[in-house]
Amino acid sequence: MTQDELKDTVAAAAIDEIRPHLARNSVLGIGTGSTANLFIDRLAALRDDFKGAVASSEASAERLRGHDIEVFELNEVGSVPFYIDGADEVNAHLHMIKGGGAALTREKIVAACSERFICIADASKRVTRLGAFPLPVEVIPMARSYVARELVKLGADPVYRQGVVTDNGNQIIDCFDFMIDDPLAMEARLNAIVGVVTNGLFAARGADVLLLGGSNGVERLTPTE
Ligand code: A5P
Repeated sequence: MTQDELKDTVAAAAIDEIRPHLARNSVLGIGTGSTANLFIDRLAALRDDFKGAVASSEASAERLRGHDIEVFELNEVGSVPFYIDGADEVNAHLHMIKGGGAALTREKIVAACSERFICIADASKRVTRLGAFPLPVEVIPMARSYVARELVKLGADPVYRQGVVTDNGNQIIDCFDFMIDDPLAMEARLNAIVGVVTNGLFAARGADVLLLGGSNGVERLTPTE
């Protein structure tokens, strides 16, 4: 199977996971990226079984609307029963690196408001130690150089993601050569740098369920202690 086919198997598995719990007043949290897009496309068939969605990016909102799924502002909704999204890396604790698509801040906000975070990913995303994928950090533009210098002090090789402006009008620095032994502590440490909006470590609020697509089918994993 190709990577895209594996992504589609986990999108289908996520539909099976949420379908029994959908109600006419349910508003779902929807992530961003190629795996989330496949999920959105499959969700279209269920559009009459739930009320609508909150999106973690303008791109996902547009795709949802394209399928006639109503998109709500998070402030109108409060909490969402499920947040379904991909990841760039995920470990056994279901801590993740996210933000390859620059949507990390809105993803983290919607994830924080979710009762259940379902991560959907192909098997290439599973790692024992986070960090081979460059960790994205969203920064206020005027703080970019200062934050980069602070990231160097922490051992990272920060690279400005040229030409990218987030949905929040900010910039992204990617941290290369930055293996992470304690994701919970590092997530808090990075967030404490003045000028950082969010970082792409999702450890304080990790996933509750990982649907991982590999050559032997979809594995359903929950966090190890
Ligand atoms: C978007 O900012 C990311 O967090 C995505 O969820 C992540 O990059 C996974 O993307 P793919 O599903 O395209 O691999």
